[in-house]
Amino acid sequence: MPIVRGKTIEILFTQEEIARRNSELAKEIASSEPDNPLVIAILKGSFVFAADLIRAMHGAGISPEVEFISISSYGAGTEAGKPTILRDVETDVKDRNLYIIDDILESGGTLAFTKNLMETRGAKSVSLIAMLDKPTKRKADINADFVGFECPDKFMVGYGMDVGHAFRELPYIGEVVGDA
Ligand code: IMP
Ligand code: MG
Repeated sequence: MPIVRGKTIEILFTQEEIARRNSELAKEIASSEPDNPLVIAILKGSFVFAADLIRAMHGAGISPEVEFISISSYGAGTEAGKPTILRDVETDVKDRNLYIIDDILESGGTLAFTKNLMETRGAKSVSLIAMLDKPTKRKADINADFVGFECPDKFMVGYGMDVGHAFRELPYIGEVVGDA
C-alpha cells in the first residue's frame, strides 16, 4: 500500500479504473444528447475529476462550456454542514442545460443546494454527475444522474478529494488506514 505524508493509503479505485470509468461515463452523458451543455464543476473537490471528464466528453463528441462554483460544505472537519457559496459562477445559467459535477455525493446537501440554486436562476435542465456515490450517508432526497462508482461508508481521499487539505494530488482514490 502506498505511503504518503507518513500515512498508509488503501487504494479503492486505481488510476486505470478511474480512466476507464470516465470514458464510459462520457459515453453515457453523450447518449443523453446534451444540447449546448454547460458543465459546472464544484470546487475544490471536483477539479481533478472535472478536468478528466471534460476531456473524456470531448472523446465522446460533446463540446461543453465549463464553469466553476466554490461551495463550502464542511468547514475544517468531516461532518457535513450547511452549504455556502464561496465563489459563484460567472455565466448566466438561464435557459441553459447544466451538468453539475461533484467529487462525491454523500448527504446530498451540496448537490441539492446547487441544483436548487440553478433552478431558481432559470436553468432549462440540471443533470448531476458524481464521481463517487456514498448512498449510506444520504439525507437529502437526491440522486445523481451519472455516477462513477458507488463507494463504501469510508472517508475517501485522492483524485481531488482531501482530508484537512491533504491528499488531493493522489492519482487514485483511497482511504487513509493508519500511520506508516
Ligand atoms: P454532501 O453535501 O454531504 O453530499 O457532501 C458532499 C461534499 O462533501 C463533497 O463535495 C465532498 O467534497 C465532501 N465529501 C463528502 N464525503 C467525502 C469523503 O469521503 N472524502 C472527501 N470529501 C468528502
Ligand atoms: Mg466538495
